[in-house]
Amino acid sequence: MKIVLAYSGGLDTSVALKWLQEKYKAKVITYTATIGHEINSKDIKEKAKKTGAYNVYVEDLIKEFANEFILPTLKAGALYEKKYPLATALSRPLIAKKLVDVARKENADAVAHGCSGKGNDQVRFELVFFSFAPDLKIIAPLREWELKSREEEIEYAKKHNISVSTTKKSPYSIDDNIWGTSIECGILEDPDQEPPEDAWTITNSIEKAPQKPEYIKIYFEEGTPKKLNGNKYELSSLIIELNEIGAKHGIGRIDMIEDRLVGIKSRELYEAPAAVILHKALGEIENLTLDRETIHFKEMISSKYAQLVYYGLWYSDLKEALDAFLNKIHQNTTGEVNLKLHKGNCVVVGRKSENSLYDMKMATYSPEDIFNHKSAKGFIELFGLSLKIKALKKLERQRKKKS
Ligand code: ARG
Repeated sequence: MKIVLAYSGGLDTSVALKWLQEKYKAKVITYTATIGHEINSKDIKEKAKKTGAYNVYVEDLIKEFANEFILPTLKAGALYEKKYPLATALSRPLIAKKLVDVARKENADAVAHGCSGKGNDQVRFELVFFSFAPDLKIIAPLREWELKSREEEIEYAKKHNISVSTTKKSPYSIDDNIWGTSIECGILEDPDQEPPEDAWTITNSIEKAPQKPEYIKIYFEEGTPKKLNGNKYELSSLIIELNEIGAKHGIGRIDMIEDRLVGIKSRELYEAPAAVILHKALGEIENLTLDRETIHFKEMISSKYAQLVYYGLWYSDLKEALDAFLNKIHQNTTGEVNLKLHKGNCVVVGRKSENSLYDMKMATYSPEDIFNHKSAKGFIELFGLSLKIKALKKLERQRKKKS
């Protein structure tokens, strides 16, 4: 039997690598994707080989992740439950799809992941497996094995000579990529406790953020961020740069109670400076270039899109159809936004677009005003006619009763 395992090199997947070989007497092939965090591909390969991997894949997917996954989600304005920019949720379908590709190449019988039985990630992996490889067996060691705690996993690792990181393990469970860091567990499980400063991994606290504000400019072309402070960037590099600037100013810390797919509420911390800044900035161009009805309609699309991503329905017909809608409406979202970053705040202070629908002569209260004030009377008359008729009828009835 041949199994392809999504492998991060952490404790869970290292133990899983060994466990799969023992339990299924299988050849296990590992697959690791780079989508943000520094991964030393040589180290990962060595580590996997040492733990008995039959073959080892490490791939840099950072550009594909930015262009094919982050960008559509940004264009959708998708924030799950109005807050979570979906960093972890977005990465799973990409990794799962690549896992399937490797499974085909290697003629494997099964795919495996290191997700636990109560999270969203297992769903995200397996829906992609269902969609692209319904014939492959899916193995989730963490749902199957008898190891009940981290300590038991470490014990297993020691027994099998699996090298586990010797540095003191953070008390939190962390997943990160360039679109954001997800932090959970430990003291954070008490939703009424302020997160300790050490829970945050990249952002400065408000106290430590610089006293002086910083202004930045972001230029978008048809909904795609193209320039930062006038300099052209490839999307993934722009996000990395923006993460650094935002993190310095304490921007992008999110603390929320979130509804998981499996039915439980959980307390989650996210750090996503670039995501917070870009969502805000793009929305600002949309406010200039989209007409009122499209803006209001898009609000509904945003929340639906976020649900689809969160639920792991990335490769679904509805998501594809929504992308077509979004690409259409973004044909005009070209322009530049000026933002002021200061002590955890990201404030839009200016915006302009060649496709702007804003008309100063219409909007102004100065003598240059060309708006036809007189036509407003007739407009309100008809807009409110049904209200007026209803009230008149009521009045009539009351008068009849009295007489
Ligand atoms: N709650 C978030 C989500 O469902 C983050 C999950 C973090 N995953 C992890 N393996 N630590 O997208």
